[in-house]
Amino acid sequence: MEIINSQLIGTGSCIPDFILTNAMLEQMVDTSDEWIVKRTGVRERRIAKNTHTWELALGAAQDALQDAGVSAEELDLILVSTCTPDNNTPNTASILQDKLGARQVGAMDINNACTGFVSATDIADSYIKAGKAKTVLVVSAETLHRIVDYTDRSTCILFGDGAAAAVYRATENENVGIQSTFVAADGSGADYLHMQALPVEDPFAPERPVDPKARFLKMQGAAVVRFTARAVPLAIDTALQRAGVAAEEIDWVVPHQANLRILDVIAKRYHLPREKVYVNMEYFGNTSSASVPICLDEMRKKGLLSEGQTIVCTGFGAGLTYGAFVLKL
Ligand code: COA
Repeated sequence: MEIINSQLIGTGSCIPDFILTNAMLEQMVDTSDEWIVKRTGVRERRIAKNTHTWELALGAAQDALQDAGVSAEELDLILVSTCTPDNNTPNTASILQDKLGARQVGAMDINNACTGFVSATDIADSYIKAGKAKTVLVVSAETLHRIVDYTDRSTCILFGDGAAAAVYRATENENVGIQSTFVAADGSGADYLHMQALPVEDPFAPERPVDPKARFLKMQGAAVVRFTARAVPLAIDTALQRAGVAAEEIDWVVPHQANLRILDVIAKRYHLPREKVYVNMEYFGNTSSASVPICLDEMRKKGLLSEGQTIVCTGFGAGLTYGAFVLKL
């Protein structure tokens, strides 16, 4: 059978200008720059002031299309991963289809929290492999500040806003592109990272109290750390095995930028120097599904990526969800 792979042909990003520093957070909650840097590695994060999620998505998409040298009319599928959309409906991808001037192709949102980019890439790859799409745009866009409780010092220090995008195109060259994907969920940990949708009074359940804080993200940080230490190696191992790629062949691991401890777990397990596990959480914090493509785009723009490299991307987060994919450049 003819081999069809999904080649990464372009990346882009849209990073908000406003910088929320640790010093600013010191004025908002009882915390310190020292505590935040030591426990999380984060020094600053971006806030999309007065900006819609779709606007970030549009900026990232246009940047990626330009990088790929692809016009919006060439897209066969538009996927947006976000857990902070502007609306429950319509989805962000439909808005993006219109704003980009793309044809009336499939346009879907994927809400898979911080695993969103990996999941969207898995779907993009499946469409391409099945011959249902030739060129697919994946955009991950998040305005997390809207769901962060800036009176909760254990979460507000972590999160930031941002968007990034990838363009995948079908290729018959089996040596490049997505070599394997893996995604999974463990809903038994649903309470570890939680935010209620539409916390409004229900006329058919008046006895159910409305918690004014329910619209905020709540996290059991230590439980999430334990989950990631188990799930991330499992995801990477499975993706490597499916791709038939050995750990020694990895040039870069690009993990979701959530906690420092998982970076050490990854480096140790795959015998990688720590510099091969890409980190930029110092400047962006945790941008949920946008973090992996923001890293990819940054790496591309810094000239760190080159033909022939093997990259493992991994995401993990609310759900609990986790996944990984192996990409050859
Ligand atoms: N500044 C100062 N003190 C803080 C603080 C802050 N910003 N946030 C929490 N603390 C305090 C707590 O109140 C607690 O105090 P206590 O011992 O008096 O009760 C103490 O620090 C320890 O809190 P704990 O939550 O146990 O800290 P931790 O060592 O687990 O570190 C995280 C907290 C958030 C850095 C860590 O749990 C983490 O990285 N979690 C995973 C995050 C993640 O991956 N999330 C997203 C997945 S997509």
